[in-house]
Amino acid sequence: MQMYSSPSSPFARKARVTAHELGLDARITLINISLSPVNPHQELRAHNPLGKLPALITDTGETLYDSPVICEYLDALAGGGRIFPASGPARWTALRRQALADGLTDATVLVRYETAARPTTLQWQQWIEGQFLKVRTALDALETEDLGGAFDIGAISVACALGYLDFRFPEERWRETRPRLAAWHAALSERPSLASSRPS
Ligand code: BEZ
Repeated sequence: MQMYSSPSSPFARKARVTAHELGLDARITLINISLSPVNPHQELRAHNPLGKLPALITDTGETLYDSPVICEYLDALAGGGRIFPASGPARWTALRRQALADGLTDATVLVRYETAARPTTLQWQQWIEGQFLKVRTALDALETEDLGGAFDIGAISVACALGYLDFRFPEERWRETRPRLAAWHAALSERPSLASSRPS
């Protein structure tokens, strides 16, 4: 298999962490690219019309996107039920946490694009604050959750969302008001799948 990825993409990291956890990383050749919101990557677009990372080309030649689909595909390839709980309340909790963490990451990426790619005179402060509000309320919600337990797709998504926030916006200092979430993240950070995929 081949996967379009980037060392700084939080969603590509989700897929790489999932592959590592399932022992499938050696079967995936990474195609590392650099993306810009204003400069479409033609080669990636030929595989994923949305031009987004990650995109996985399976051994049968089909391209899968985006990260929730790729992660669930990898889980099925490894026998199923390891990263995505097969059924019951654990499944819905893991999927909801994935949605919450991916939404947090989406908002963070939008602010990154607005502040790093947009000319300063065109930047819209109220819109940036609106995105940061989503980030902060999602963090507050995660602080109330009991994240201990299985390292499933919910936990992987949250860990990658926090890693990206630290990478692009260290000045946010989210830990100061969310000690439980900070302790959970610190305890996980040396896990090989996360330690070997830190954004750079
Ligand atoms: C980033 O470098 O911040 C980034 C890269 C790919 C996708 C999203 C964000």
